Amino acid sequence: MTQTTPDNVPHVPFSADTQAKFAREVAKFPAGQAQSAVMACLSIIQHERGWVSRAAEDELAAYLGMAPIAVYEVTTFYNMYNQQPVGKFKINVCTNLPCQLRDGQAALAHICRKLGVTVGGTTADGQFTVQQSECLGACADSPVMLVNDREMISFMSNDRIDDLLATLAQAK
Ligand code: FES
Repeated sequence: MTQTTPDNVPHVPFSADTQAKFAREVAKFPAGQAQSAVMACLSIIQHERGWVSRAAEDELAAYLGMAPIAVYEVTTFYNMYNQQPVGKFKINVCTNLPCQLRDGQAALAHICRKLGVTVGGTTADGQFTVQQSECLGACADSPVMLVNDREMISFMSNDRIDDLLATLAQAK
């Protein structure tokens, strides 16, 4: 399978529908504060395209009337924004200290070994991307993972990881 990369995907300008969604977010803020909608607009782009390309960041910066660097600062600070294409299931494994103390690193190693990828990698079939993350705010439940930025998975023993991967693999 040919992997999609940031370099071989031509930028498609935002559609009128996408811009209408942006406008609804911008309207939530006082006049002259359009850049306050940057996170919501980035989420819209990612929801529609699966990731946020540099070209999309630049076009959004122009739309919101802000410097491109200010958009890059947001996308690079929050790891929920995908700066390159990811698999159907993006799994973030917390390796911050509390999770580390309860086998967070071992959980990350196990999931990478099971999927045959390195951290940050995507499986050849495009199904799974594994990433390392900072604290997900559920330290008492460690080790913790987040699937597709939405679903928190707690107490991830190797057996539970195996079950999770099997369940996701069947969710075609
Ligand atoms: S350190 Fe992992 S959830 Fe807080």
